[in-house]
Amino acid sequence: METVTTIAAVRERVRRWRAEGRRVAFVPTMGNLHAGHVSLIEAARRHGDRFVASIFVNPMQFGPNEDFAHYPRTPAQDARMLADAGCDLMFMPDVAEIYPNGSERATRVEVPGLSSILDGEFRPGHFEGVATVVAKLLHIVDPDVAVFGEKDFQQLTIIRRMVADLCLAVAIVAAPTVREPDGLAMSSRNQYLTEDERRTAPVIHGALLAAVERLRAGDRDFAAIERSGLEALERAGLRPDYFSVRRADDLSGPDADTRRLVVLTAARLGRARLIDNLQPGT
Ligand code: PAF
Repeated sequence: METVTTIAAVRERVRRWRAEGRRVAFVPTMGNLHAGHVSLIEAARRHGDRFVASIFVNPMQFGPNEDFAHYPRTPAQDARMLADAGCDLMFMPDVAEIYPNGSERATRVEVPGLSSILDGEFRPGHFEGVATVVAKLLHIVDPDVAVFGEKDFQQLTIIRRMVADLCLAVAIVAAPTVREPDGLAMSSRNQYLTEDERRTAPVIHGALLAAVERLRAGDRDFAAIERSGLEALERAGLRPDYFSVRRADDLSGPDADTRRLVVLTAARLGRARLIDNLQPGT
């Protein structure tokens, strides 16, 4: 695996592969890789024959009181994991390479509506930062396919909409959430949990499972399902931001006839803010 830090170097490698008729698959990450990221690379391998991963902790998607400065950075370990997973090219730019005029004043990509609900309500500007950096990375790498985890379901929905709205020629592939044996969704932020909190955290998956079981059984009292989810999280000592049943296609409010549903939640536990989701159809 080769590591490059400049946009010019990525473009040169990808151009060369294209000239050889290769299909390029891309996995954008913020590093501190775990098994969930490896599964994204594995999904990429099913859709391409050359693989690029980026490692970039994007300042634009962190709020002023969020964990940008402390976000775990483990580049040497990430490089080993990517090489073992069969990645060909690791793109690890610094902030000035991605935001030559600074991230604060940079041109931004906004996906209206979808970016201000659910997580967007609690993290103003977050999805603008995500959409902006993903648009830039897709423009730089110019892959045939890009892979995103279903764990960040709202992010995935926003990226699909952005790609459609901007007529980008890239196929977006969703990779299923990877869970610990007790159901906790893998996330770099799990390492903020104390031992006690780590034991409590699977209650999030439990609450989601209870909700999707009710939906599978035909219960369409969404407000009651949401209330039960919030109560289960609060009883366990978490501080939920939301627990919400939505249409899986566009995250709007469902009605009794909606076929594709998703239950999404975000909750604080100690220093960590954890998000997760489940679909009754899967
Ligand atoms: O999901 C993430 O790790 C990030 O939001 C992404 C897509 C790499 C953009 O910074």
